[in-house]
Amino acid sequence: MNIPMVDLGAQYQELKEDIDQAISGVLDSSYFVLGPQGKAFEEEMAAYLGVKHTVGVASGTDALHLALRAAGLTAGDEIITTPFTFIATAEAIAYVGATPVFVDIDPKTFNIDIQLAEKAITEKTKAIIPVHLFGQPADLTPLKAICDANDLLLVEDCAQSCGANYAGKMTGAWGDLGCFSFFPSKNLGCFGDGGLISTDDDALAEEIRVLRNHGSRERYHHSIIGMNSRLDDLQAAILRVKLKHLDRFNQQRRVNAHRYSSKLAELGITAPYEDGKGVHVYHQYTMLVDNREVIHQALADSGIASAVYYPIPLHQQAVFKESCSGLSLPVSEQTAQRVLSLPIYPELTDGQVDRVLEVISKAL
Ligand SMILES: Cc1ncc(COP(=O)(O)O)c(C=O)c1O
Repeated sequence: MNIPMVDLGAQYQELKEDIDQAISGVLDSSYFVLGPQGKAFEEEMAAYLGVKHTVGVASGTDALHLALRAAGLTAGDEIITTPFTFIATAEAIAYVGATPVFVDIDPKTFNIDIQLAEKAITEKTKAIIPVHLFGQPADLTPLKAICDANDLLLVEDCAQSCGANYAGKMTGAWGDLGCFSFFPSKNLGCFGDGGLISTDDDALAEEIRVLRNHGSRERYHHSIIGMNSRLDDLQAAILRVKLKHLDRFNQQRRVNAHRYSSKLAELGITAPYEDGKGVHVYHQYTMLVDNREVIHQALADSGIASAVYYPIPLHQQAVFKESCSGLSLPVSEQTAQRVLSLPIYPELTDGQVDRVLEVISKAL
């Protein structure tokens, strides 16, 4: 039985009729960019997240970049974030010329350590970017309080947390800006690249709309240098179909995750920790192990995928080595040595989960 990290084909088969119809509707309409599907999806996402505005853009990376640009962040500014994330979080900071200030993570949730974030604030700090890693919201109540007290922007990286909530309020609705990715393997994924920014701020939303469309408020009038970063209508139409199922899919991810966790405890493996402050939507199911290579190899030998997210924290990446020289973030460094992610997706069956557990059990 081969088990991949994610089975996009299974989800397509389930929704095929509706997705195919949505795609042909766009083809028939000939509205491909900034058309009615994009607009409808933005409205539906704003209602889903409970925010005033959402703006579709070309990717999660662009969502972060445009959010920071719209907020006026620039060279000389410091932005506090986690080193235990995908590179895009820090790339966006670098794109606007600002400096990423990496602080260590909580060893249980793998999310940014709030106390360390607060200690890292200087007079140059302008924003904090928490990443809701693997689908578990960062500790947003204290984070928001710290941002409010220090006049900092809170920019949420929600690339992995679409549909997650913290204290009943959706991720993406807590910060000044929320940044989403619709990369195909994400909890809400399209059939290419896509992203979205959420905000309650009218001026920021307007600025992002201008920036994503070549700095243009009026056709062929350009007041600022913008970008070509729109969520196209084909992707929006597909996302509209999938959004209707997102809560059910996330719930099924949780059921599968809990089935793993209940058995892994018996094997002495540290299952993902749920801090109980919100709802973890398990974009990844990431455990802590001491014998990672043995488990990874045993799974591979049985046709089962597993992956390391992330093997190298950002402060140790070649691109940041110079600017972060001498920086020691021991929790991130140790966590990177021990994490292993197992297949997780809504369509994963009990039989597949049990098979993964059986192979791990034998390997140990
Ligand atoms: C935490 C995080 N931030 C940002 C991104 C960037 O999203 P995209 O791939 O859509 O550009 C990703 C994508 O993997 C991510 O995991």
